Amino acid sequence: MSTLWSGRFDAAPDAATLEWGSSFGFDRRLFEDDVTGSLAWARALARAGVLSDGEAAAIAAALTRVLEHGRSDPSSVTGPDEDVHSFVERLLVQELGDAGKRLHTGRSRNEQVSVDLRLYLRRRIPILQGGVARVVGALARQARSAGDALMPSFTHFRPAQPVLVAHFLMAHAAPLRRDHQRLAAARGEADALPLGSGAIAGTSYAVDVEALARDLGFSRIVPNSIDASSDRDFALSFLYACALTMVHLSRLAEDFIIFCGDEHRFFELSDALSTGSSMMPQKKNPDPLELVRGKTGRAIGHLMAMLTTIKGLPTGYNKDLQEDKQAVFDAEDTLIGCLTVVESVVNGVSLNRARAEAAASGLLLATDVADYLVGRGVPFRTAHEIVGAIVRKLVAEQREFGSLTPAEWHAASDRFGDDIVGRVTPRMSVGAKRTPQSTAPEAVGAQLAELEQWLERC
Ligand code: ARG
Repeated sequence: MSTLWSGRFDAAPDAATLEWGSSFGFDRRLFEDDVTGSLAWARALARAGVLSDGEAAAIAAALTRVLEHGRSDPSSVTGPDEDVHSFVERLLVQELGDAGKRLHTGRSRNEQVSVDLRLYLRRRIPILQGGVARVVGALARQARSAGDALMPSFTHFRPAQPVLVAHFLMAHAAPLRRDHQRLAAARGEADALPLGSGAIAGTSYAVDVEALARDLGFSRIVPNSIDASSDRDFALSFLYACALTMVHLSRLAEDFIIFCGDEHRFFELSDALSTGSSMMPQKKNPDPLELVRGKTGRAIGHLMAMLTTIKGLPTGYNKDLQEDKQAVFDAEDTLIGCLTVVESVVNGVSLNRARAEAAASGLLLATDVADYLVGRGVPFRTAHEIVGAIVRKLVAEQREFGSLTPAEWHAASDRFGDDIVGRVTPRMSVGAKRTPQSTAPEAVGAQLAELEQWLERC
């Protein structure tokens, strides 16, 4: 197999090492983007007068045949080539002969790989965003059907205060919406044309890069060819967006693993998305959610690996950068797989309303008792003390607020009136909240309506 650079060498490259260093096994994913970039480069060379219109047309026709063949038979995108750029050029020359050899004029694979990866992310990120939006949609549908159902919230993983189930579900939608935005930002970062940078110093041909950018749908040009040859910040931003989305999916998975477990049973996983045990007949395991949690390590790992690869590079292209692609592709694959599974799991869970509401009562109402006293003019710090003493007594006697007699209330503080019993319920607790981000049913209704509007715009 001859390489794109064999002329300079007396001896053939060591076959095993060449194969080991070849990226075609994975960068074949960039095939379409490489052809897209090459088609535009041929047009740019024609506009610059480097190629005649006839040559450019012949190159375009041959590249289009190469593209169509690769599309109709993806298994044909293979060979002993060093990378996808060499592959496309080999096929072009096979189709066209010498005329095909003119395409690489003024261009380097250093900028080619950058433009390919930018084009790739531009077309793939919206697919991930769609997956994120579908998980948010599943959460919104569950929130809508949960209605006014209650559950406990937790801090330090200890029961904290009653909340609406819908509020809890939307607590997982909120970070995913930020992820959607973060993915858009990574796409925006990739939206700069690197062609015209040459290998590092720029190109000596009068290529109209503004026109080329318009041709390829880029909104701007990279500012510095030296920087462009080794800039992978856009890939890192993408890896960060993937890693953080995975972190959010992992936390969602963890919540459902816990809340569907026997100790809580606020929700029930659908049978179809659970697995059994080969030995213990009673088991209904949340394997898909555990795998989502487990795969998060991979996505974080790809971000760390790429940061580490980049940190010591001297300025300009270095082959180390070839490592970017497997990180990007695997982060993408991992994320899309997990988004699909989480969407199914969320769609399939059913709410165990009685169980969730029962857990939302009891000592979780302590803050509401204190707030009652505040309403009667007691300073909050004093109210906290008074209620703390009541809680201490109730815990010791294994009782709850509902069991206190009027005399006991009065003994704790003469500010307690007879209305305290009716005032201290989970439903009153959520209804008492006043801020737009709170769990008050009206606020949650507005949050859900806003979320549904966002989903419609997506
Ligand atoms: N396969 C290479 C990569 O992924 C393409 C760029 C090669 N450039 C070079 N000068 N060897 O980075």
